[in-house]
Amino acid sequence: MVTVPVKAFPHVPAAPLAGKTVIDTCNYGPERDGPIPELDNNSLTSSELLLRYLPGAMLVKAFNNIFFKHLLSLARPAGAGDRSYLPIVGDSAPAKAAVTAFMESIGYSVLDAGPLADSWRQATGTPVWGTPYGPYSNEKGQPAGEDAMRAALAAATR
Ligand SMILES: NC(=O)c1ccc[n+]([C@@H]2O[C@H](COP(=O)([O-])OP(=O)(O)OC[C@H]3O[C@@H](n4cnc5c(N)ncnc54)[C@H](OP(=O)(O)O)[C@@H]3O)[C@@H](O)[C@H]2O)c1
Repeated sequence: MVTVPVKAFPHVPAAPLAGKTVIDTCNYGPERDGPIPELDNNSLTSSELLLRYLPGAMLVKAFNNIFFKHLLSLARPAGAGDRSYLPIVGDSAPAKAAVTAFMESIGYSVLDAGPLADSWRQATGTPVWGTPYGPYSNEKGQPAGEDAMRAALAAATR
């Protein structure tokens, strides 16, 4: 799991993560990370930038779109009517399968939102980012089901 400010990507050690499934939870924010031209001009997603620093890793972007308190409070068992969905992206099918199994085991259903290059669809400020799970002021959050999350992913613009 890489969960640091994007400005810290150059300090993430690559060797221990080579050949491993790695979850990227990170969001870019120039106000925190400083300007990064490739991200500001949309020529790269933050996940593709991380992959440049971790070339051997099997990266899966996940959890970046949910507030950590909602991640705790919205977990539900498999089959619950109010189980929430979380999107993932990645280029390795086995890595995605492993991350999906993990996410399902901790209380979430998963939407496969495509390859890493499409991770902009779940980046900061997109329709799937934060708001489907309710305001930060309500720590209980609100469940976000499959139809709502599919529609929110499809509504993303760049
Ligand atoms: N907080 C959320 O609810 C949430 C939800 C979804 C996604 N995210 C994303 O997940 C990532 C981590 O978020 P966070 O809230 O956990 O952030 P954070 O508390 O600021 O940072 C998490 C870790 O990053 C390390 N770190 C910070 N600056 C560093 C630097 N310059 N060099 C090396 N390591 C550094 C910190 O290490 P030290 O403790 O040793 O300083 C800390 O362990 C961010 O990209 C954020 O946008 C956050």
